[in-house]
Amino acid sequence: MKILIIGSGGREHALAWKITQSPLVSKIYCAPGNPGMAALGECFDLSVNDIPGVVAFAKDNDIALTVVGPEDPLANGMVDALTEAGLKAFGPTKAAAQLEASKGFAKDFMARHGIPTAAYGEFSDAESAIAYVREQGAPIVVKADGLAAGKGVTVAQTVAEAEAAIQEIMVEQVFGDAGAKLIVEAFLEGEEASIFALSDGENYRILASSQDHKAAYDGDTGPNTGGMGAYSPAPVVTDEIMAQIEEQVIRPCIEGMAKDGAPYTGVLYAGLMIGPAGCRVVEFNCRFGDPETQVVLPRMKSDLVPLLLSCSDGTLDAQDIEWNDGACVAVVMASGGYPKAYEKGIPITGIVDAESDDCIVVFHAGTKQDGDQILTNGGRVLNVTGFADSIQGSIDKAYEGVEKISFNGAHYRTDIGQKAFHHLT
Ligand code: AMP
Ligand code: GLY
Repeated sequence: MKILIIGSGGREHALAWKITQSPLVSKIYCAPGNPGMAALGECFDLSVNDIPGVVAFAKDNDIALTVVGPEDPLANGMVDALTEAGLKAFGPTKAAAQLEASKGFAKDFMARHGIPTAAYGEFSDAESAIAYVREQGAPIVVKADGLAAGKGVTVAQTVAEAEAAIQEIMVEQVFGDAGAKLIVEAFLEGEEASIFALSDGENYRILASSQDHKAAYDGDTGPNTGGMGAYSPAPVVTDEIMAQIEEQVIRPCIEGMAKDGAPYTGVLYAGLMIGPAGCRVVEFNCRFGDPETQVVLPRMKSDLVPLLLSCSDGTLDAQDIEWNDGACVAVVMASGGYPKAYEKGIPITGIVDAESDDCIVVFHAGTKQDGDQILTNGGRVLNVTGFADSIQGSIDKAYEGVEKISFNGAHYRTDIGQKAFHHLT
């Protein structure tokens, strides 16, 4: 069968890498894809937001399943449009994608279904938001309601910082319509973990745990980024915590969405804070995490394709997932300056050398092909991923790969995966 993958980042490269290992798949297409994905299938130039273009391509090319990577097309109804055209798609409907696309929707949903999360207030004017912040005190968290490419959240250490964030969102409108409403919520203490669950609307299967590193620099310092690295499994998620996550978060979420008339299909991403009071939901996303997918999928022993198909067919109850025992670590190599302004078009060397080791794979996140050369083309450029029997072994493998790759200005964290050792004795 032929599969179409929508997106062009490291997450989509990892999906393409895993999907092409399936004996069920004869060919993959990627829209628009990246140079790493081009080595696995056929990439063509189509925007991830061109819904009619994607539907027409899937129809004309006899695509058995379209896998939608990023949140924007999901929130804009790409899966609805494909399904209406009689085509199979992996991902939630526009209505179900509200869990990510509107933080207010997600908070109200969690309150209604008893899912643990931070106490919050929802505001559509700056004055009442500021009054609430003054009443609550700091630390406190201010979030634009809508999709803001991960930049709409301020964890404020002071009331003044929170007030400035409210001004930016509501008065200066730096996030446009995404800031028409905002959420102010209590600061949660603890350690973050990412849990993905596949769902067909009724049944679910929880995938291996992982942890992202959102801060730009070592020791979780510096500005927040889209994610500077990840590892799986995340030992902070003990069996006991995983059972809590299933009973208190995943099950009530899937059941609640069905009850509310917007059954959740695709992958549900729960961003969780694991603290002294147990687990709390920081956010829901309606897609696979990036870069967490790059460390979770390599650990999956089962064929991913029947799992993705069964989410769209309503037959996930018949599926089991097997995992490799080892661990996986991905280190993001970023452009100099990221997450602020950075240059593009810088030649990269050493990818082939790094990948000559069977335990290293390099997922492309922001690259472009120029003749024989690969150039940088984004903030997060490469995800250098190592597999081994242990977390330490996979850290060593990932950094062995990083050492072989270079481009001018490259920066990366040197402590990806170290937090795992706080929980391992
Ligand atoms: P979000 O986009 O909602 O996931 O927020 C981005 C990041 O801000 C999260 O990954 C956390 O690191 C941090 N964050 C968000 N909400 C809270 C909270 N209530 N308490 C502490 N940190 C938070
Ligand atoms: N790794 C964070 C995200 O995918 O939102």
